[in-house]
Amino acid sequence: MSYKPLTKAILPVAGLGTRFLPATKAIPKEMLTVVDKPLIQYIVHEAAEAGITDIILVTHSSKSAIENHFDKHYELETELKLRGKQDRMQPLKEITPEGVRLVSVRQPEALGLGHAILCAAPVIADNEPFAVLLPDVLMHHPEKGCLAQMVEAYKKMHTSVVALEEVPNDQVEKYGIAAVNGPDLRITELVEKPSVEEAPSNLSVVGRYIFTPRLMNILKDTKPGAGGEIQLTDAMDTLLEEEVMFGFEFKDGKSYDCGDKQGYLQANVEYALRDSILGDDFKAYLQTLELEK
Ligand code: UTP
Repeated sequence: MSYKPLTKAILPVAGLGTRFLPATKAIPKEMLTVVDKPLIQYIVHEAAEAGITDIILVTHSSKSAIENHFDKHYELETELKLRGKQDRMQPLKEITPEGVRLVSVRQPEALGLGHAILCAAPVIADNEPFAVLLPDVLMHHPEKGCLAQMVEAYKKMHTSVVALEEVPNDQVEKYGIAAVNGPDLRITELVEKPSVEEAPSNLSVVGRYIFTPRLMNILKDTKPGAGGEIQLTDAMDTLLEEEVMFGFEFKDGKSYDCGDKQGYLQANVEYALRDSILGDDFKAYLQTLELEK
C-alpha cells in the first residue's frame, strides 16, 4: 500500500445509547458531560492533537445537539458581551480546536458500527487512510493522547493500527480480544468476548483505530452479522486476511467506557480529581465521604 498521511477521522455518533436511558432519550450519549465538557469534545481534541484536520461525524436526525455544540452561537456570544461577561467566552472559544473542520453525514438507522463507518465513505477518497474514534470511550494519558501515539506507529508501519489495552485475565469475556505476535504486536486474530480459557491474550480492542483505505471497500461487501448489524469486527477479520495489521498497546494511561454507567461515573470522579481548579477541593470532599462511612 502506498503511504498517505492521516488527516481524516470518523466519529460515529448515531447509536441509540440504550444503556443510558432515560438520560439519552432527548440528549445524545456523546453530549453527556464529564466534569464540564461533553464526551464528544474530548474526542475531537484527541483527534486534533494527533494532527487530524477533518472530522466526520456520522450522526442522526435526533442528534443535532452535537453539531450545534461545535457551531458558533451568535446570540449567546452577543448576550455575554452585553452583560459584561466576556470571561465566560473563553470556554466557548476552546470547543473546536484550531485548524479542525467538522462535517457531518447521516446514518438514517442505527445498523451497526460498521454501517456507521460506511456512511462516511462518500467523504473519504478511495486511496485515503482514516481513523475511527469511538466517542463514548475516553482515553486519558498524562503526556500524549492515544491517537497521537498511534499516528507515530502508523508513520512507521504504513498499515492499519488498532489500540489495545490490557484487561484483567478474568474479564476478557467482556471485550473484543486480539491475538498478537511478536514485539510489534502484529494482530493475527480478533476474538469477540472469548471465554477465559479460549482468550488468546488479555489485550482488548479499545475504540481507537487507524485503517488503510481497504477497510472501507471491505465494509461495502460486509453482510450483516451479529444482531443483524454490519459489524466492524467482521470487516477487520477480512482485512486481516489481506493486509498486515498492528496493535498499539495503550500504556501509562487509562480508558473509560463512558457508554456504561460505571465507566462514566469513574471518568467524572477521576477527571474532576485531575482538574487543576476543582481537583484539590473535590479530593477533600471525597475524603469527607470516606470518613462518614
Ligand atoms: P455503542 O454500541 O457503544 O453505542 O457504539 P450505542 O449503540 O449508542 O449504545 P447502547 O449499547 O445502545 O447503549 C459505539 C459508538 O458508535 C456509535 C454510537 O453512537 C457510539 O458512539 N454507533 C453505534 C453509531 O453511530 N451507529 C450505530 O449503528 C451503532
